[in-house]
Formats: sequence, C-alpha cells, structure tokens
Amino acid sequence: MSSGKFFPVDIRAFRTTSKDITFDVFLKLSDDNYAHVFSKSSGVDYKRLAQYIQKGVLHLFIRGEDEAAYREYLQRSPERIFADPAVSDNKKIAILLNMAEQNMAELFNVIKVSDEAAKTSTRIVRNFITLLSENPKTLATLLKTASHGEYLYYHSISTAVVSMFLAKASGQANARMLEICGMGGFLHDIGLTMLPKEIVDSPTDLTAAQWREMRSHPKLGIKMAEGTPNIPDEVRYIIFQHHEEPGGSGYPSGLRGPVIFYPAKIVGLADSFCALITKRPFREAYTIEQALGIIQHEIGKYDRELVKLLVGIFGQKTAPKAAA
Ligand SMILES: [Fe+2]
Repeated sequence: MSSGKFFPVDIRAFRTTSKDITFDVFLKLSDDNYAHVFSKSSGVDYKRLAQYIQKGVLHLFIRGEDEAAYREYLQRSPERIFADPAVSDNKKIAILLNMAEQNMAELFNVIKVSDEAAKTSTRIVRNFITLLSENPKTLATLLKTASHGEYLYYHSISTAVVSMFLAKASGQANARMLEICGMGGFLHDIGLTMLPKEIVDSPTDLTAAQWREMRSHPKLGIKMAEGTPNIPDEVRYIIFQHHEEPGGSGYPSGLRGPVIFYPAKIVGLADSFCALITKRPFREAYTIEQALGIIQHEIGKYDRELVKLLVGIFGQKTAPKAAA
C-alpha cells in the first residue's frame, strides 16, 4: 500500500477514548508496508494496544479519507460522555467497563506498573464512585456485566466495585479511603500475572509446590508496584495483605485481626465474594446466596462486621443465616 494514503495518529489517543471506531487502524511495518490492526467491526483490542505501547510504538495510522471520522472519535472521550446527564446509567457503565478493561490490559501486561496506568486507575475509580453514589442500583448491573470476559480483568473490576461499596457501608470511609479501596481492588491480584497460567487457571487442585508459588503473588504484586509514585502506600498494603485472615491462617505473613490493615480486610472479603460468584475453570459460578453462605461458614477468614455489611448489601430474605 502507498504511504501517501495514510497519516499518523498518536497511539495514546486510543488509550482513553472509546473501543468503538468508525475507521480502520494500521501499524506501519516499513516504509510502504502497513498492517491492518484494528477494524470497524471488532474495535480496538486493548491487549494488543498495550503491547504496541510497551514496544515503544508512538503512532498508528489511518486512511486519509477517515480524518473526519477520527476527529469525531476524539470528541467521544469517556469523561465528556460521563459528565452528560442525558446519557443513561447503562451507557455510562459500558463506558466505565470499557475504560477499566483497557486499563487492566495495560496493568496486567507489564513487569512494572507505569505511573500513567496507575493515574488512569485513579480516574476510573473516581468515575465509579460518582456513578455508584449517584445511583447505587447500578451495582447489580455493573457486577452482572463485569462477570463476562477475561477473568483477571473483570475480577479486578468487580472486586474494586464491591470493595468501594463495603468501604462506604462501613461508615468509616472518607473520599480518600474509597479511592484506596477501589484502587486496591483493581490492583490486588496484579502479582498473579507473573505466575504461569496453568497455576492461576488450573482446573484441578494445585500441588504443594504450585500452592507455594500461588501464595507468592502478594509479594510479586508489591514488586510490580515498586517505584510507581501514583500507587499510594495504602494500596501497597492492600496488595500485600489481601490474603491475610483475622484468624491468623492467611498469607504471606499470618497476621492476626487488628494488625491487618482495614482496607486490606475489605478488599480480601470483596475478592473472595467476587471470585465465588464467577465461573472458574474448575467450577461453575455460585449464586449470590450460595457465596454469602460459604463466606459465613468460613467466617474466621474474614472480619465479622464486614461480613455483616456484605450480607446487608447483597443478602436477600433467602440468604442463609450466619453459621457462626
Ligand atoms: Fe489474591
């Protein structure tokens, strides 16, 4: 193809705008050679976009005749749509999940978290907080929508959302703590990306050696977040402590109740709940009632007051009573 037909656009524009495009996008391989990378029908593939950015690609290319469509695309930034009261909550949820998915693709395909990606997470978490506080009923739709797609991405998104709800319900959360819990939910399992997929998605029980590896993910997560000023220290505590249990049987340090950072207890509980209500390679998804029942049965793993709050948020009349 002739290079005259194409013009370069900043690759970063695709990071914060919509997944839907009304034009085709190309990658320049050499002077006269362009590969078609994103199409109108399939939209922007965030995983591949993150890989191109990682490799140092600065520009993607569009056809000359698509310039007007590209400019129109830039006008559709999520923040603009988000601030518009005429846009429905469902549309806003779709946009937020779209942004979050893109952010997850960036966060989970790196060895170190970039400051820019961490900043984007904060932006997304703030938008979640606005949406959920304006209309708490969007929680159910959000979780339902977020239960489809790649497990680690959507698990992180739903854990962030449930963590923020729990933090709010605890009555102890100011705006900063809500943000900390949201970001902690986003990033808590980031260390899992350093482990082999066979371990993370194993359809069978893990061997003792695999368990040892699995239990290293909080430490691996902390390493990935090292040297990233946009990740607050509180979020590092959450990454490191989200598998600690008030009863002392958690990992990596076997900390007991009062020593565990409170937001880490919030994210730990949200993590378990969201994992239970999601289909995994080794089992079907539990219903919300079943998940609450399992958590209540294993109450020693969690902060009792937080479990009560979780039941208050999600429980229905049919939910089993606390076993302990
Ligand atoms: Fe984890």
